[in-house]
Amino acid sequence: MGWRRTRREFLALVVSGPLVQGCGAMRALDVADNRPPGAPAAFVAKEEDVKSALYFVKGDIKGVLVRTPKGLVGYRNKCTLKGAPCVLKEGALVCVLDGSAFDPTTGKVLRGPAREPLAPLKLDFKNGFVLLAAGQK
Ligand code: FES
Repeated sequence: MGWRRTRREFLALVVSGPLVQGCGAMRALDVADNRPPGAPAAFVAKEEDVKSALYFVKGDIKGVLVRTPKGLVGYRNKCTLKGAPCVLKEGALVCVLDGSAFDPTTGKVLRGPAREPLAPLKLDFKNGFVLLAAGQK
């Protein structure tokens, strides 16, 4: 195969590769590299570090934490149509592939083509840390 890539291959490279590091628009933190000393194993982020949205990778989970008027919420950052990631843009979590938009407070679809809401992550909060609740895979 030459240098040409399909759109899906290009997006996979951007989301998981070095391009995202320089982009700044959607930088996913690898939780394993950012866990502070003394933080529980379920650590995802410091609450204070979630300004508007924080994208992370923890094991097999690619997630996004969003600060909403109702507090911090989390979702698997995987569009329910084809699995592409979403970015917080103009008040919605917007799929980077086909543009579906999800309500950041509820995960519900605001605009298709996706029909199913984003999968929520169960979170716990302790000592200023955001933790993944037990039992999530
Ligand atoms: S993968 Fe999200 S709208 Fe297509």
